Amino acid sequence: MNPARAAFDHVRRLVNGDRLRGEAGWRANDSFVHHAPSPQQAVDIFAGDWASKLPIDGVTSGTAGLFDDARIRWLIERLGSVEGWSVLELGPLEGGHTAMLGEAGVASVVAIEANKSAYLRCLVVKALLKLDHAHFELGDFDAFLAQTDRRFDLLMASGILYHMADPLQTLLDMVKLSDRIFVWSHFVDRAAMPVGDRRWRPMTGEVTKRTIGDDTMTYHVRSYRGSEGKSEFCGGTMSRSIWLDQDEVLDFFRRRGFAVETAFAEPDAVAGPSMCFLARRS
Ligand SMILES: C[S@@+](CC[C@H](N)C(=O)[O-])C[C@H]1O[C@@H](n2cnc3c(N)ncnc32)[C@H](O)[C@@H]1O
Repeated sequence: MNPARAAFDHVRRLVNGDRLRGEAGWRANDSFVHHAPSPQQAVDIFAGDWASKLPIDGVTSGTAGLFDDARIRWLIERLGSVEGWSVLELGPLEGGHTAMLGEAGVASVVAIEANKSAYLRCLVVKALLKLDHAHFELGDFDAFLAQTDRRFDLLMASGILYHMADPLQTLLDMVKLSDRIFVWSHFVDRAAMPVGDRRWRPMTGEVTKRTIGDDTMTYHVRSYRGSEGKSEFCGGTMSRSIWLDQDEVLDFFRRRGFAVETAFAEPDAVAGPSMCFLARRS
């Protein structure tokens, strides 16, 4: 090597500390991995951000049991058979429910996720678990619901209603697309949350009535309290959430001819009352 070039490289390595770090000091940048392929290496692209415990032996991810979720087992049991069904899933997060529906035999799940990191985690999950039935799409499902006239055998709305910019509009768009709708959500339930309950604290106090056509719902604005700035945030696209009254939501479905079965009511849940329901119209 040209002695001037060698001297330059030597100084550069000294300045960068490369001489002390050996070969590692010559790594191009942090975009590369340096071990043979493994599920953990793929999962670790998003280390620290995983909410779900992935069903892969020996892999460290998150802790939430969304790939083995009693609420989804209940749903599938209530539905009887979902063999060959088409499903629209709003906000899959990391695809846990998507995977469970595939195991139950659905033909396809169109799962629309607006969070770019969550969408990519869904793609990692799809690759690792070989979820051929899952079609993860990056997008705002509100925009999709407003423009589509596709029909689905089942619509999944788990953990999304209280994250919507305009939840009454979302509900109106949802009931156009399916006669079977599964909802899990937090709700305002005044009986479960009397005045002074600490779970009122994140509520901003802003309470409005939203009317669209013949429907009116009460919107309770709730702060995310800064969590929206964190990479593991799994809420909505706005910097505040809107909680609905449980009874108003159940009435909304019943007025449209849906029979509603509720389950997993947790009036004492830490964040606020929650429950799920299956609404079916024949
Ligand atoms: C609380 S998580 C619920 C995840 C999963 N469905 C469950 O029940 O465990 C809400 C998910 O919806 C996504 N989301 C929120 N608003 C959305 C929107 N307008 N369009 C698409 N995805 C959205 C979030 O990024 C997040 O992944």
